[in-house]
Amino acid sequence: MKSYIVGNWKMNFSVGESSVYLHKLLQKTRAFRDIEVVVAPSTIALQPLSLQIDRKKIRLAAQSANAHDFGAYTGEVSCTQLRGIVDYCIFGHSERRHLFHETTKDIRAAVSAAIRNQITPILCLGETATERTFGETYDVLRDQLLSGLSEVSSEDIHKVIIAYEPVWAISTTSEAHLAAPDDVSEVVQFLRQLLTDTYGKKIATSIPILYGGSVRPSNAGAYLTIPEVNGLLVGGASLIADQFIEIIETAKRVKS
Ligand code: PGA
Repeated sequence: MKSYIVGNWKMNFSVGESSVYLHKLLQKTRAFRDIEVVVAPSTIALQPLSLQIDRKKIRLAAQSANAHDFGAYTGEVSCTQLRGIVDYCIFGHSERRHLFHETTKDIRAAVSAAIRNQITPILCLGETATERTFGETYDVLRDQLLSGLSEVSSEDIHKVIIAYEPVWAISTTSEAHLAAPDDVSEVVQFLRQLLTDTYGKKIATSIPILYGGSVRPSNAGAYLTIPEVNGLLVGGASLIADQFIEIIETAKRVKS
């Protein structure tokens, strides 16, 4: 299976800055068959960047999208509008769940809207620190995974990507809050088993599972070498082109 290195720029960079960054990335990365490099800029930058991008090297993702195709939803952008502009869209990111109160129902509808519009959904899952402390991690993840995918038909289920991002490990500067690769490994094996039990082994092994949570050049290799981890979702470190490039290079080394 391919590895995916996804940079989530969140609400950073003007359109001009996004374009300069992309230019640098295009210059410095070579197409590599086994690695898909994806960047997720702000919505406002997606259309201009889609004209600049070389899809053999880099693909675009939206950071969120509304489940409805059109209509009276002020401030929203739909998968129908993003169709042809992006190849991927992130759904269920912890910031969307916790800061913008997106519900499981919103997320599952948006995941199926993405598939309907030929956009690959990257469904994020993750437990909070409190849920972890109370031993609820696996229940939370089971619920987020199964309900997030519940409107996807069995023929389409292989088109999704899962990203495990423990909320407590996102954007942390403290080493103590980084997820230990052994812990990530256990969770990812649990997710793979859950996919197997629900959709069968063939489909389960074709669904990429990414890890995200304070991934940096210094720890990318450790996460990428966990069996069953098929890539990384990178936030903070993806804002610095050199760091993101270093992570891509690490992925290439791990793959070859
Ligand atoms: P981080 O962000 O790498 O800054 O922790 C990851 C994410 O939120 O997707």
